[in-house]
Amino acid sequence: MSLLDAARAVRENAYAPYSRFKVGAAIRGASGAIYRGVNVENVAYPEGTCAEAGAIAAMVAAGETELVEVAVIADSPEPVPPCGGCRQKLAEFGTGSTPVTLATTEGKQFATTIAELLPGRFDQSHMSHT
Ligand code: THU
Repeated sequence: MSLLDAARAVRENAYAPYSRFKVGAAIRGASGAIYRGVNVENVAYPEGTCAEAGAIAAMVAAGETELVEVAVIADSPEPVPPCGGCRQKLAEFGTGSTPVTLATTEGKQFATTIAELLPGRFDQSHMSHT
């Protein structure tokens, strides 16, 4: 199964009764395993979580901390861009050149990378004095 197919399938399980905007994310760990996530909203709106965050949590819970590919899909007119927080979360576990595919349920796709999504990102080097 392709990563995008995994994201498309899991999107059906998104819990988005407030925005009605279901998002599915799938990431491939360095082992080759696929981890899936959906957005999970809450009546206390700020407590909702994004699909990307769910997929990352599943990967880390399974014992992996390196991702090599990302796919995100939503029913949007254009491929949905990850929110700022999710860009930082993806950067934590991928590299600048990690491929990210953004897609719509209608079949539009946009290929990008973590570096393109988050230029000038804060990383460990900024905490070093040497
Ligand atoms: N959302 C995601 O899950 N991922 C994205 O990349 C963009 C936005 C969710 C959050 C919220 O549940 C809904 O989409 C509307 O913002």
